[in-house]
Amino acid sequence: MASVTMEVESAASGNKPLTEWVAQLAELCKPDRVHWCDGSADEYQTMLRLMVQTGVAIPLDAAKRPNSILVRSNPGDVARVENRTFICSRSKDDAGPTNNWEDPAKMKGKLRQLFGGSMAGRTMYVIAYSMGPIGSPIAKIGVEISDSPYVVANMHIMARVGTKVLEALGNADFVRGLHSIGAPLKPNDQDTTWPCDSEQKYICHFPETREIWSYGSGYGGNALLGKKCHALRIASVQARDEGWMAEHMLILKLISPSGTTKYITGAFPSACGKTNLSMLIPTIPGWRVETIGDDIAWMKFGADGRLYAINPEYGFFGVAPGTNMKSNRNAMLTATKNSIFTNCAMTADGDVWWEGMTEQKPAELVDWLRRPWTPSAGRKSSHPNARFTVPAKQCPAIAPEWEDPKGVPIDAILFGGRRAGIVPLVTESFSWQHGTFLGATASSETTAAIAGKVGELRRDPMAMLAFCGYHMGDYFAHYLKMGAESSKVPKIFYVNWFRQDENGKFLWPGYGENSRVLKWVFERCDGKVHATDTPIGRLPDPSDLDVKGLDLPSATLAKLLSVDVQGWIEEVPRIKEHFAKFGDRLPKGLQDELTGLEQRLKAAKK
Ligand code: OXD
Ligand code: MN
Repeated sequence: MASVTMEVESAASGNKPLTEWVAQLAELCKPDRVHWCDGSADEYQTMLRLMVQTGVAIPLDAAKRPNSILVRSNPGDVARVENRTFICSRSKDDAGPTNNWEDPAKMKGKLRQLFGGSMAGRTMYVIAYSMGPIGSPIAKIGVEISDSPYVVANMHIMARVGTKVLEALGNADFVRGLHSIGAPLKPNDQDTTWPCDSEQKYICHFPETREIWSYGSGYGGNALLGKKCHALRIASVQARDEGWMAEHMLILKLISPSGTTKYITGAFPSACGKTNLSMLIPTIPGWRVETIGDDIAWMKFGADGRLYAINPEYGFFGVAPGTNMKSNRNAMLTATKNSIFTNCAMTADGDVWWEGMTEQKPAELVDWLRRPWTPSAGRKSSHPNARFTVPAKQCPAIAPEWEDPKGVPIDAILFGGRRAGIVPLVTESFSWQHGTFLGATASSETTAAIAGKVGELRRDPMAMLAFCGYHMGDYFAHYLKMGAESSKVPKIFYVNWFRQDENGKFLWPGYGENSRVLKWVFERCDGKVHATDTPIGRLPDPSDLDVKGLDLPSATLAKLLSVDVQGWIEEVPRIKEHFAKFGDRLPKGLQDELTGLEQRLKAAKK
């Protein structure tokens, strides 16, 4: 690979700040080698081989999952670590109440010490990546430096990487990302199977200088810096400064039986079914969904005043447990080859398995902690945040235009979360400002995608709580400003697939049946279906929703579409408490929406 490295380095040589930055960091981190990634298939194979040879990965059976591996991480490194994630803006106020903050100079000092010699005995990989189709006016380029072959391989799938990106970059500026697993090797040290520093993790963002420094973790969003760190935290700041939007949203294309299309984005907290929704198979005859993206949307106004979105990613990093041929057939088919599985269980015949993949559990497995497992083991075989990394282009539902550099024009935005009570199946906002209010007050019961407690209710505005790189109050103001810029902004809706009855049973079947809600959204965009004004927004009457062929008792449907006025009156103080956190940075428009909601609820109670 040495000659490739030199070739690629020469592709970068026009960009002096880049070559100088790499040289400085090599001096700091003291790797044995520096490798400039070219992004080739050969390079990808070298990474897989390296991981297999060092015991990080196991190749899966080539007939069952061609060109795929299983990786098992350290149990101390299994999810994003929000309590170790920092926004190091110059002023603490700019990070706001929802982010951990540290003074940038102080944090850099601490990080320089940790990164000093942190790559000894390892290779420093220089990964130039483009978030978005190369050359798209909405795309952005970053460079991640990492000492992890797992990161290189995952970045090959999750972003466009290598020489072609360096060529597109020329001598322009780029987002700088430095990542180390924090496990230097002395000459005769034996490496561990998942080297990391599970005691000291720092995922740090320097928004003003567009830098990311990530230390200690090799897992997912902590380590694949193009994804959450760049495409959301840093990009949200770039978007605020440059007048666009970087959102934690899937993008789907909904096609009606007559062939008309609408593009819909959806923001949901982690592990609330974004990947499933983005590639859903409608149960209503004649309707189709195609996928543009499953996690992130970057949106900019086009010359026609419409908001155009691209998926900045190139692959899917999906939660494996619960994924099966019923819940997400398209994801299952995407992951049949060229895939990386992390923290799943392994079958006796060299394939992967996870909870929920098949109704019948395999008789024996090796679990994600490398222990023998049988169905009577009394514990899960896969980690609940086990993942698959797969190329988006392998998805059978991928839309032909998913890489269109100009993006796709968005008709509707969905917000949502996991709420057992009061939140109806679907609500249409009265206006962009009211929709912003719905997004700003979104809440969800937490899942295993984040280290910490599962099942706790937390406010997760626009599903950006963990991903907004600046003061959330200013982020709300940015939303309102975007809405004021055009009369052609998308309609905003709020959905909740997770409402339960008093016995904890889900009222709505979900998955492909969610197409019934999407159909109503689609037709609302054209004003072709009825909605009733209620104190919380516009709702379909039971007869407005297409439930043909769905075996749902009418009382259940009525409950799903009911507004629990008393429940909402009790919700208001909780919204006030949530808003109070933003102090004088809470935009007046949202305060007005809260007052309006309170008044409408009071009037409805009378
Ligand atoms: C993700 C997440 O991995 O949101 O997409 O946690
Ligand atoms: Mn996500």
